[in-house]
Amino acid sequence: MSGTPDRRTTEPRDTLNIVVLPGDGIGPEVTAEAVRVLDWFVTRRGVPLAMEPRLFGAAAWAAEGTTMPEATWDAILSADALLFGATGSLDQQHIPPEERRKGALLTMRRALDVFANLRPVKAQPALAEASPFKARTIAGADLVFVRELTAGVYFGTPRGIETMADGTRRGVNTHAYTEAEIARVARFAFELARTRRNHVTSVDKANVMEAGRLWRDVVTEVHRAEFADVTLEHMLADNCALQLGRAATRFDVIVTDNLFGDLLSDCAGAINGSLGMLPSAALSAPGPDGRRRALYEPIHGSAPDIAGKGIANPLGAILSAALLLRWTAGAPAEADRLEAAVEAALAAGARTADIALPGEAVLSTRAMADAVIGALEAAA
Ligand code: IPM
Ligand code: MG
Repeated sequence: MSGTPDRRTTEPRDTLNIVVLPGDGIGPEVTAEAVRVLDWFVTRRGVPLAMEPRLFGAAAWAAEGTTMPEATWDAILSADALLFGATGSLDQQHIPPEERRKGALLTMRRALDVFANLRPVKAQPALAEASPFKARTIAGADLVFVRELTAGVYFGTPRGIETMADGTRRGVNTHAYTEAEIARVARFAFELARTRRNHVTSVDKANVMEAGRLWRDVVTEVHRAEFADVTLEHMLADNCALQLGRAATRFDVIVTDNLFGDLLSDCAGAINGSLGMLPSAALSAPGPDGRRRALYEPIHGSAPDIAGKGIANPLGAILSAALLLRWTAGAPAEADRLEAAVEAALAAGARTADIALPGEAVLSTRAMADAVIGALEAAA
């Protein structure tokens, strides 16, 4: 029993309604393990969660002829949080484009206005050899991206592929940010830094892009007006990609736009040798009831090449469940407990194929989750 008071002895809490969207590819396999781990917290730690699976994406198309059934959408809108697996599969070409969009992750992020995307990356000592980086450059690395998730080039208009007068085509996307969109994600990053090591790196391409110049200006203004106690540095995105490989420990909170956040978080995935290790949480501003809408997902994709084989790494999904415990369930001690169990399982040698060195024993998706649950039991 830890020193924190058992919340069952205080106010009884309402059960939180978690909508589970396994999605495509390896999504169902890894999500099932994250749910199993969360079930452990429900039964063994009294965390009040009710998990409700819903059809989404290609699976929903196959079953119901729509990628986003109305019942799923209603459940999404009334959920306390979403636990998402992965989207996109090889066999989606037969789904009409409009239907594919309807079910798409980007539509969901935008509709829920979950603009602040947390992507924590912590070097796992046990995986130092699995990383392509030198152990001395990553030992102790503990950083978190705050990726702007609902604006920028992912959503800007005009966009499309047009045919020009000479009959050749031109692809167009628009990278645009308003002051308000920059300011709110900057505020989120500074507030988060205050709970960590008080350091923010803001990443842009202010040397080339007007939207980058505005990004830098607004972050600087928000910092000066409200967060002068936090250390702020600005960094160009190309340099950030380099520094993640050669000096990852210098970072605490990295705030950046939608596209750079996508690219740079993949770079940081190499710190633990696999994207399969990385979780994420996408959060909205607090609503009138003080709660944030939240979408939790591993940052790896649907990996159709290994789907259905039971070999995918479930740790990205399981660590996303830890973020859910911290940000939606308001149970930071339980989140710490789960993160420690993942570290313990890795330290004891548990490896899925993506993080195993040649000759190391390889666990299935299910067995890796069993190792984490075993570590939870051992520490309880
Ligand atoms: C991510 C993914 C998504 C993105 C894809 C699947 C649309 O790469 O969450 O990092 O680009 O945001
Ligand atoms: Mg990505």
